[in-house]
Amino acid sequence: MNLIDGKQISATIKDEIANEVRRIIDQGGKVPHLAAILVGEDPASETYVSSKARACKQVGFDSSTYRFPADVTEEELLEAVAFINNDPEVDGLIVQLPLPEHIDNQKVIQHIVPEKDVDGFHPVNVGRMTIGLPSYVSATPYGIMELMMRSRIETKGKHCVILGRSNIVGKPMSLLMARNEEPGNATVTVCHSKTKNLKEMAASADILIVAIGQPEFVTADMVKEGAVVIDVGIHRVPSDKTKSGFRLIGDVRFDEVSRKASHITPVPGGVGPMTIVSLLMNTLKASRKEIYG
Ligand code: GUN
Repeated sequence: MNLIDGKQISATIKDEIANEVRRIIDQGGKVPHLAAILVGEDPASETYVSSKARACKQVGFDSSTYRFPADVTEEELLEAVAFINNDPEVDGLIVQLPLPEHIDNQKVIQHIVPEKDVDGFHPVNVGRMTIGLPSYVSATPYGIMELMMRSRIETKGKHCVILGRSNIVGKPMSLLMARNEEPGNATVTVCHSKTKNLKEMAASADILIVAIGQPEFVTADMVKEGAVVIDVGIHRVPSDKTKSGFRLIGDVRFDEVSRKASHITPVPGGVGPMTIVSLLMNTLKASRKEIYG
């Protein structure tokens, strides 16, 4: 079994980005700048946004956070998005989700100009990816493609089974794995809550991507000998073996599945560390105007 080490791969990519920022500065160019909008005081969102700011600092990007109280109006948020859209200093903008109930997430996302939508959530970016045009790809699918590329996983002609059909993971993963490009060129099956023979489908996969949101759902009997297993899940469960009193597990039973898999991502330290790096890669692309010219 080969461990796909997301921690190590993400550190390598951060070094590459930091070198690129140094080169930009040496040539008198503009330092990439990521802005984030954070609404309310949700602890998970606070953590995400501060990790993103820290990652920007590590690679030499500028970053700014626009904070709003939970009772901000939709209009005020749309105004803030418009302001950042027009700020030539800012290359990429993310609006941390979830937003409070009274705000229409889609309306806010669609207010971001596609050129700055480094989360890849705007329908223009999703549509462009769907038809194979250059686009920002959202963090998790982009990170998984990068993990596969850098781990030299052969995808061409392989049967890729994806468990989960969400807009931010399963759906884009299915398009990327089936595209006429490498990594890609796989034969893709998407399984979801209404799939009848999910176990059999999973067991027929050469590449199994699990984003089903259920702790340790995938067991060894659902995995083919020699399969590549990518675990997108992350769950905090109580543990009496750790100081903190909890530990992190994925959607895959790592102990038993790792004995059958040829390659597998651990949790933590697999897909997770790649997501912030994907955002940095997209912000670099935005500052270079790589997608939209
Ligand atoms: N909330 C949880 N994950 C994400 C993400 O990738 N982007 C944004 N904007 N919000 C999130």
